[in-house]
Amino acid sequence: MKAPSKPREVWATRVGLILAVAGNAIGLGNFLRFPVQCAQNGGGAFMIPYFIALFLLGIPLMWCEWAMGRIGGRHHCGTTPGIFHVLWKHPVSKYLGSLGIFIPTVVAIYYVYIESWTLAYAVFSVTGKYFGIMTREGMGEFLASYQGQYPSAHFKNIVPALLFYLFILFINVQILSRGIVKGIEWLAKWAMPTLFIFAIAMVVRVFTLGAPDPTHPEMSVLHGFGFMWNPDFSKLTQSQVWLASAGQIFFTLSLGFGAIQTFASYVKKDEDIALNGLTTSVTNEFAEVVCGGSIAIPVAVAFFGVVATTAIAKAGAFDLGFQAMPIIFQKMPLGQLFGGIWFFLLFLAAMTSSVAIVQPLMAFLQEEFQIGQKKAAWACGGVLLAFGLPVIFFLKYGFLNEFDFWAGTFGVVAFAVIEIIVFFWIFGSKKAWEEIISGADIRIPKIFYYILKYVTPLYLIILLVTWFFQNGLDVLLLKGVSETNVPYVITARVVLTGLLAVILLMIRQVFRREHRIL
Ligand code: ALA
Repeated sequence: MKAPSKPREVWATRVGLILAVAGNAIGLGNFLRFPVQCAQNGGGAFMIPYFIALFLLGIPLMWCEWAMGRIGGRHHCGTTPGIFHVLWKHPVSKYLGSLGIFIPTVVAIYYVYIESWTLAYAVFSVTGKYFGIMTREGMGEFLASYQGQYPSAHFKNIVPALLFYLFILFINVQILSRGIVKGIEWLAKWAMPTLFIFAIAMVVRVFTLGAPDPTHPEMSVLHGFGFMWNPDFSKLTQSQVWLASAGQIFFTLSLGFGAIQTFASYVKKDEDIALNGLTTSVTNEFAEVVCGGSIAIPVAVAFFGVVATTAIAKAGAFDLGFQAMPIIFQKMPLGQLFGGIWFFLLFLAAMTSSVAIVQPLMAFLQEEFQIGQKKAAWACGGVLLAFGLPVIFFLKYGFLNEFDFWAGTFGVVAFAVIEIIVFFWIFGSKKAWEEIISGADIRIPKIFYYILKYVTPLYLIILLVTWFFQNGLDVLLLKGVSETNVPYVITARVVLTGLLAVILLMIRQVFRREHRIL
């Protein structure tokens, strides 16, 4: 990297760093995606492949990403094109690293839009805007008309959704423009404790619900927990369950995004990354399994029963969060307040994740193009807006799903394979391991060395190959996409390819300018 004109920022406090990385990981994935994945894929049995994936993929990769980030920081770079170049002096390494900017940027493009729904729904809860709509179909129409899919008595057009989106985008830009310590660390220091207080308030509320309808004792919170956690071991023979659990570990820990490396590049030289990586993972799992697993699904069973909750879980995370929960709030005492708490909790979770996944693009612009902090933040906002508008306007044609699939589902696993090969096999397993344990107060058992060297890459490759034969080919060939949606889905792919091409060209330009190996 070029010698920097001023020193790189470093996190001001250890607690701020841990909260920021936990905020990076804890997001919509913990409270919306996890309960639905668990309920859909065998309940308690899902937790077996889930914890296996956590120990064999999640925690080991977390340590790798922290270590790669700290190496990057020492070389004045916080993004994977530069980090890969440090690790592997080969012309192709920097281009492989482009995925660590492409993936988080694509996820951020749609994530910020969903984040804006959470704030909008917090407002709608407190003001009682959706109160009176008591069916899922009705709530579905409310959400669809808010998204501008068609006009209704509640929303004549997409303008309210656009205004909320622009507001949230603006807040993200403001936080980013204040930098690591004054922006992201400051946000994490108040948002994360607030998030946990809200989550615990929700969990206590759910536990004290009992059976809200005395005529239906089978519809109780306890039955909800039973539904969520009762293991259906027959599901373990389905590869889909193993793919889903690994996918959830990636999404929830923000692994394979390139975003952990960027955060870790701002640590002090002797920071204990082994302990930090572990603490981040444990905090995220507490938020996911204990809090995320105790709210949406148990409460849905208590109010709708098992049959309806199964249908809701099958329909997906948004149906649970934005259609079922608003009905439930209308049926519970102080529903407006609890609705506000639930959606504001989602908003805080989303906010601390969205700034984290925009930060790689931010760091890339600042470090490689010497763009000032404020300008870089506005440039990131511009990119999110330009690519976000088609996502917003073509939502019903599958634009968002396409972005989510290529970046948030397939991309993260593919990038993780590349990362581990570059770090553990090309850079060298001994050097990589030394880097992970250097400065550590905790002793990582040596078994993780062998896991990282052999098990994690093999596990990832098996996942990718299985996935490819199970659903990848169908997705690639647009099987199951309606005729109306085909042109939109193809356009989404062209847009994504265009974005990747621009990032590749920018990397080429940087390396040419600095006469680094091409
Ligand atoms: N890890 C973030 C989440 O769970 C992206 O939402």
